[in-house]
Amino acid sequence: MNVHVAGKPLLGDDKEFLMTERDFDEIADLALKHTGIVLGRHKANMVYGRIARRLRQLKYSTFADYLEYLREHFSEESTNFINLITTNLTSFYREPHHFDFLNETVIPELKRKTDKKIRIWSSGCSIGQEAYTIAFTMAEAHLAASYDLKILATDLDSNVVQTGSEGIYPADNLMSVPDEVVEKYFERSRDGNQVRVKKSMRDLVHFKRLNLLESWPMKGKFDVIFCRNVVIYFNRDTQKTLFNRYADYLPTGGYLIIGHSESLNGLTDRFKSVGNTVYQKVY
Ligand SMILES: C[S@@+](CC[C@H](N)C(=O)[O-])C[C@H]1O[C@@H](n2cnc3c(N)ncnc32)[C@H](O)[C@@H]1O
Repeated sequence: MNVHVAGKPLLGDDKEFLMTERDFDEIADLALKHTGIVLGRHKANMVYGRIARRLRQLKYSTFADYLEYLREHFSEESTNFINLITTNLTSFYREPHHFDFLNETVIPELKRKTDKKIRIWSSGCSIGQEAYTIAFTMAEAHLAASYDLKILATDLDSNVVQTGSEGIYPADNLMSVPDEVVEKYFERSRDGNQVRVKKSMRDLVHFKRLNLLESWPMKGKFDVIFCRNVVIYFNRDTQKTLFNRYADYLPTGGYLIIGHSESLNGLTDRFKSVGNTVYQKVY
């Protein structure tokens, strides 16, 4: 147990646990090193709230105690720590103009592929609602049954990958899903509180835990990569490296789709803009 306070308290005295500036900086360093996520001091309340849950579980009374535990048991505790650090906000049909772009531009091109092989990657997929929206869009365009379609869904956070592979969500997550899609591709629990994506759609999506900062085991290229609302948490160097790696995983003419507040400007010249946050690989 840590008895002395190392560093100035960062948050007010009214808090349940003591978090000093030094504690916060250590958390931010670990987050950057292991996830690429940049945590400025203005995120102190958010970080406090998330890690406080773990302090309660482990019955620690200060962040310094938890950090000492994390340092000493990093291989066992790092997954919990990382899962607390990630922000997993998502929804079905989020940024719907991307699915209009799929329908209007990408799908007609994919239909002309002679090998009938279609590979799409939802990178930073969170609980899988983006990947399933892609699956519904492809199925509605008749690209699921008669094509060799596989959607890879990856995330660093092991909890969200597990949720995605189960495909079970609270029923109120269906607000943004058109009625006919709900009807065709979801089944309801007996009490009506939960829904599950039907097996035919779950079979199209392959969930894997993958840290984008580490090596990628995938061999082939993708026709389309979705990486939406992920790099917003990274610094420009990490973004640059990542976008260039995505270019290596796309054929010339392949598409990279990013989030509403993200841009490739000044980071890579290997793509051209072909729509609202939609890019096409040029080399
Ligand atoms: C805000 S969610 C975006 C979900 C979805 N793409 C969307 O736009 O709705 C960001 C996701 O990126 C994941 N993430 C953050 N850092 C990552 C990393 N280094 N490698 C892989 N995934 C990461 C987080 O775990 C989180 O689930």
